[in-house]
Amino acid sequence: MTGFVVAIDGPAGSGKSSVSRAVAARLGFGYLDTGAGYRAFAIHALNNPEVPAEHLAESFGYSISMDPGAQSVFLNGQDVTELIRTDAIAKAVGAIARNLIIRKFQNSDASARILCCDLPGIVVEGRDITTVVAPNAAVRILLTASEEVRMKRRGLEQTESAENLAQRDKSDSKVVDFMTPSPGVELVDTTNLDFEGSVQKVLEVIEAKKHG
Ligand code: DC
Repeated sequence: MTGFVVAIDGPAGSGKSSVSRAVAARLGFGYLDTGAGYRAFAIHALNNPEVPAEHLAESFGYSISMDPGAQSVFLNGQDVTELIRTDAIAKAVGAIARNLIIRKFQNSDASARILCCDLPGIVVEGRDITTVVAPNAAVRILLTASEEVRMKRRGLEQTESAENLAQRDKSDSKVVDFMTPSPGVELVDTTNLDFEGSVQKVLEVIEAKKHG
């Protein structure tokens, strides 16, 4: 049974993961980072270079925790929580995210996980979540920030080089338009907001939807 679904979309560096996690924790909701599924799939593809992409899903044994306080990601019994965040995987994941067969698989996997969540609600984040995976979510938000601010934030996080980030945004945007909100999707621009301000803004949007 799924409770209240909050879907959050946005480009890399918009703060979507950290803001989503904080919002979920404050509301006592579960948290699903769908990008982790693509990243784990990239590891799976690198581990099995001889298997064609369309057959990789058959041997993809994947699990992810929904606890916003502590993420753990497993791939075929191996803890890949840290490996999915490396630069090598960030580089490899673009091709995975562009593969439409893999996208279809990832989308139905995410939908199933949302349905299974037995908490009062769930915050689910990732590209095209608001439009393809959870178009009927109670709240749908597109989190953005100017390119300059996104680069700066990524620099602070030190997870990925600016060049790689720009490249990934460009290639992701060939399959998913994540900069323009679709009808019914609330735009939250965090360019001039700090982390706490961004969390508060998203909580406000959720509150307004609950009572509107
Ligand atoms: O959010 P992230 O950086 O962990 O996402 C990793 C990659 O997967 C990135 O290239 C975007 C892609 N992705 C996607 O296409 N659709 C999603 N729902 C989540 C992530």
